[in-house]
Amino acid sequence: RLCREVLCLDDFEIKARRHLPKPLFGYIAGATETNASLRHNAEAFQAYAFRPRVLRDVSKRSTETSLFGKTHAAPFGIAPMGISALMAYRGDIVLAQGADQSGIPMIISGSSLVPLEEIAAVSPQAWFQAYLPGEPDRIDALIDRVGAAGLRTLLLTVDTATLPNRENNVRAGFSTPLRPGLRLAWQGISHPRWTAGTFLRTIVRHGIPHFENSYATRGAPIISSNVTRDFGRRDHLNWNHLERIRNRWSGKLVVKGIMHPDDAARAVDTGADGVIVSNHGGRQLDGTASPLQVLPEIASRVGDRVAVMVDGGFRRGTDIMKALALGACFVFVGRPFLYAAAVAGLPGVLKAADILKTELHSNMALLGVTKVGDISADYITRA
Ligand code: FNR
Repeated sequence: RLCREVLCLDDFEIKARRHLPKPLFGYIAGATETNASLRHNAEAFQAYAFRPRVLRDVSKRSTETSLFGKTHAAPFGIAPMGISALMAYRGDIVLAQGADQSGIPMIISGSSLVPLEEIAAVSPQAWFQAYLPGEPDRIDALIDRVGAAGLRTLLLTVDTATLPNRENNVRAGFSTPLRPGLRLAWQGISHPRWTAGTFLRTIVRHGIPHFENSYATRGAPIISSNVTRDFGRRDHLNWNHLERIRNRWSGKLVVKGIMHPDDAARAVDTGADGVIVSNHGGRQLDGTASPLQVLPEIASRVGDRVAVMVDGGFRRGTDIMKALALGACFVFVGRPFLYAAAVAGLPGVLKAADILKTELHSNMALLGVTKVGDISADYITRA
């Protein structure tokens, strides 16, 4: 059924809208305030158009891409997404397995509900995204824990100095923790497949889920009648914290949420091995430029020194190709993979990765290239 009904990544969203309780779907799909950043992300791709080359032998082509000394099957991976295990049964594990089997990287969220050690056990290739706790000794403890789990790539998300104003969550009835009540009960009754297959199954087998991997929120239950919980302060974090982490972490270090070339340069000077140009999928500062828009200046500033990656609104193989042409070496995709995990579990994640790979494979031929590394600014023009 998946093969017949899901032809592109956006089809997973249509299915997830029906499958998930409204507050949960809204949490994934939503952004902040006027949703301008989210719109910018989706529209940015239209600003560029391809200049395909013809009559080249493209019969032998490959989507393989090297990153941090590892060869991946394609130039994309799965972005970190918090509380995935509330959307899909053992969501983080399913995403990690799907990524592993598809030969692509997956980033474990610092706000996940499954202990990072369990995810690392099924996918030691996974990266870990940390939301920094405020206190230095807790930062050290978190870094040591990630290393002890056998993970080798640490990613710091730096665009979350404070909680954004996500009005849509309030309107849709979403909060963390979720508040039990008639509204939530009705959502459960009207979405029985999610209730039985994800929610009750989780509670019966693993108890009430709580945040596992962030020292700021660790142990906080995701469902509770106590809504006054403190999410931990992050608004004082600065470059000195990054330096401290660089000194303690010997693996690859990536900074996610860079939108300005000066910040990219500062991150690289501090010892980062890569940056992800990202506006958090439009979920932090409203009215932010799209990552695609600022990518060329960041790539030209630091692209020769470190890996410049990007995320936000990527839904098609051709979207990925445009980012590669504009100087990115790798792309991350968020929401579609979580929708896929929610509606169809592991087969859904595999299908989503396969769709993107297949689109890339055929569109590379149509563009006239055989290798990911050959996609350059020469193949693109302002639309
Ligand atoms: C996110 N994102 C995110 N980022 C991060 O660094 N840590 C996190 O815990 C989360 N959590 C999260 C939850 C959900 C439901 C979404 C949709 C997103 C942001 C994510 O990593 C990525 O930057 C964007 O989702 C990319 O945009 P697209 O592909 O979703 O449009």
